[in-house]
Amino acid sequence: MKLGVLLSGRGSNFLAIAEAIRTERLKGVEIAVVISNVAEAGGLKAARELGLKCEAFVSKGRKREEHDADVIGCLKAHGVELVCLAGYMRLLSPGFIAAFPNRILNIHPSLLPAFPGLEAQTQAFEYGAKLAGCTIHFVDEHLDHGVIVLQRAVAVEDGDDAHSLAERILVEEHIAYSEAIGLVASGQYEIRGRLFVRKGA
Ligand code: GRF
Repeated sequence: MKLGVLLSGRGSNFLAIAEAIRTERLKGVEIAVVISNVAEAGGLKAARELGLKCEAFVSKGRKREEHDADVIGCLKAHGVELVCLAGYMRLLSPGFIAAFPNRILNIHPSLLPAFPGLEAQTQAFEYGAKLAGCTIHFVDEHLDHGVIVLQRAVAVEDGDDAHSLAERILVEEHIAYSEAIGLVASGQYEIRGRLFVRKGA
């Protein structure tokens, strides 16, 4: 299965996916292209250094639909079958979501539906949550909302601050994203309403 990775920043989740593929913890998938809406994104530089195909489509100042049309065109041109948002700081237009129905994954650093939106780890910490974590979910037309593929939890410890909590969540993110991609790529699941159900479960 061909993956298209979209990112805006440092790209540690992208690198964790690339490493899982390289070490064959994640089998049957390849990264066909890495796309960023930020030309100087660290993740894009890292992808270039790995010799992957990369594209930057700068989104600043452009209409969402027009920018998304470029990204969709690039994904299709590379035969992408599963889109993985990995710190892609941009809402997708309805046309984008329709172009890849149940074929776009996102990672969010909270146990959804708690704490959608920006700075989820800080939101969880300041709320006083005792369990935090991360969620891999399909993308639908609502923010941080689609069907959940998997979650990994992290205990909030005495002495944590938002930064230390975010660091421990990130460790789990790096494990969870590859696992979720593997599940989706296997095709051994069905979606019943909001439920992601593994076949045979
Ligand atoms: C991660 O915390 C991810 O959950 C969120 O954005 C951050 C991206 O980090 N969506 P990185 O660029 O993958 O290091």
